[in-house]
Amino acid sequence: MSNDASPPSPAVSAAPLLDARDVHGGYGSMNILNGVDMTLYADEVGVIVGPNGAGKSTMLKAVFGLLNVNQGEILLGGEPIQNLAPNQLVKRGMGFVPQEKNVFPSLSVQENLEMGAYLKPHNVKRMLEQVYEFFPPLKEKRRQSAGELSGGQRQMVAMGRALMAEPTLLLLDEPTAGLSPLYMNEIFDRVKKINAAGVGILMVEQNAKQALAIADKGFVLAAGQNRFTDTGAALLADPDVAKSFLGG
Ligand SMILES: Nc1ncnc2c1ncn2[C@@H]1O[C@H](COP(=O)(O)OP(=O)(O)OP(=O)(O)O)[C@@H](O)[C@H]1O
Ligand SMILES: [Mg+2]
Repeated sequence: MSNDASPPSPAVSAAPLLDARDVHGGYGSMNILNGVDMTLYADEVGVIVGPNGAGKSTMLKAVFGLLNVNQGEILLGGEPIQNLAPNQLVKRGMGFVPQEKNVFPSLSVQENLEMGAYLKPHNVKRMLEQVYEFFPPLKEKRRQSAGELSGGQRQMVAMGRALMAEPTLLLLDEPTAGLSPLYMNEIFDRVKKINAAGVGILMVEQNAKQALAIADKGFVLAAGQNRFTDTGAALLADPDVAKSFLGG
């Protein structure tokens, strides 16, 4: 029997969770993304790395409907979604945690989390329990204002708030920026656990080696285009990727 005749595995036959094809877009008339492709399955962690200004954050914004996509298409679970508004995308199961200003500092931890469930208020209790299970330190600090927390704990609040809406795809922009190695590892550990619970993850990371180490799929972007796309392990083992993008 030839390899061609083997039956497709379920992962191959199911539509990808996210399928971005030849995405062009930018701010005003200037294109920043010049034909980006990204495919991610529901059980995968995808990591976007690349130099400053490569268009990593811009790509997340394109997926989350914050950017005009003027060429190409973006599919969520097989359905075209490009240029839908963020609130419509949240309803369809997308969550987005921007790099900065991602918590309400004067509100308590729990109030921040509760805001994340505004579309499904009946879910608040169950989802709070789940978020506190992912991030036990937040339970202890639930009455404290988010602005008083450490950077790592604030990041947990931001991720927790996005999870309160029960996303199927969570977009994270540099969740470990500015964190100590200890917190960085903790966040990556949580990312794996959240993914194992059924949430596809697409995250931008500057801590590229550590992030690729937990990535099922890695995307190296430069100048608004894919430079390398492979499993995290394969990218880490590729000397060209290491030399140009991972500091040797
Ligand atoms: N709101 C905006 N208006 C106009 N240009 C922007 C805007 N945001 C980003 N840019 C430009 O788009 C390009 C890509 O920016 P982007 O933020 O996507 O890069 P990045 O890969 O996330 O970089 P970094 O690693 O620094 O976060 C840069 O040249 C940037 O100056
Ligand atoms: Mg960025």
